[in-house]
Amino acid sequence: MLATIPSLQGRSFLSEKDFTKEEFLYFIELAMKLKDEKKYGIPHRHLAGKNIALLFEKPSTRTRCAFTVACIDLGAHPEYLGKDDIQLGKKESIEDTANVLGHMFDGIEFRGFEHKKVEMLAKHSGVPVWNGLTDQWHPTQTLADFLTVKENFGYLQGIKFVYVGDGRNNVANSLLVGGALVGMDVRICSPESLFPAEEVVETAQSLAAQSGGKVTITSNVEEGVAGADVIYTDVWVSMGEEDKFAERIELLSPYQVNMDMVRKTGNKNMIFLHCLPAFHDLETKYGKDIYEKYGLGEMEVTDEVFRSAHSKVFDQAENRMHTIKAVMAATLGNMK
Ligand code: CP
Repeated sequence: MLATIPSLQGRSFLSEKDFTKEEFLYFIELAMKLKDEKKYGIPHRHLAGKNIALLFEKPSTRTRCAFTVACIDLGAHPEYLGKDDIQLGKKESIEDTANVLGHMFDGIEFRGFEHKKVEMLAKHSGVPVWNGLTDQWHPTQTLADFLTVKENFGYLQGIKFVYVGDGRNNVANSLLVGGALVGMDVRICSPESLFPAEEVVETAQSLAAQSGGKVTITSNVEEGVAGADVIYTDVWVSMGEEDKFAERIELLSPYQVNMDMVRKTGNKNMIFLHCLPAFHDLETKYGKDIYEKYGLGEMEVTDEVFRSAHSKVFDQAENRMHTIKAVMAATLGNMK
């Protein structure tokens, strides 16, 4: 039996920096327990009778499916509300919609652009709100990533975790702050023009000072990946930035994760992670368009690395569900 952390009850989950190291590690421990329970068919209906609103202003495969399956496994009813289904901020203020949803639902997931929106939902709904990705943070992704690291190495403290690519997107922000929180040797390796914002780096540095972690921001690939246990990357162009392909390809081509970069780690046990979706072949419309315009058949990661034994991306995707389940159970569930 895993002891509950009472401080998590009724809390929203908006970004890593809102939690202590102990609380954040608890979500991962609980996810491991829930993963085992699912594997062995042990019921874990900690949200029996609850109703959960799933608000998606942007498309999603993993986050939507993870929240939906997690709700059902926990005994809750998930209600999907897409961008054209409700009036959030269009014909009704976010404050009023939050109030209405909070009077009907027990918990709310939100995926959208402005982080302010998820904060407003949390402030005005009166129920736990979970961030399914905003333009600043992707904290449910971080939990799944760290669970995958723990499954592969057995620990998180001191893990050399390198994020390579667009160093100032939501995933990079979350990994930098989350890694520092749990005591990793966390590194962002990107062109200087894509370094994370100063305030994000300062938050990470302050957390690392408490956790025994380390923060490095570098544009030098050799320095960034030396000894790496984990190389992580994300798409070079995020949703809503589609006009930036030419500029990003030029900036980020030296940061492509390929076998040469894997060898530079000097660590034969290193793992490759990606939050997905990934552009590693020509099997997507985007991939084909980029190939036709720029002659590039693979972007942030080569097909060789993506399909190699180093790659744990599909375990990582599955772990979205187990960790999201842990977040909902710990903040809203009956865990007695
Ligand atoms: N990684 C991730 O958030 O995937 P989706 O966009 O499919 O939810």
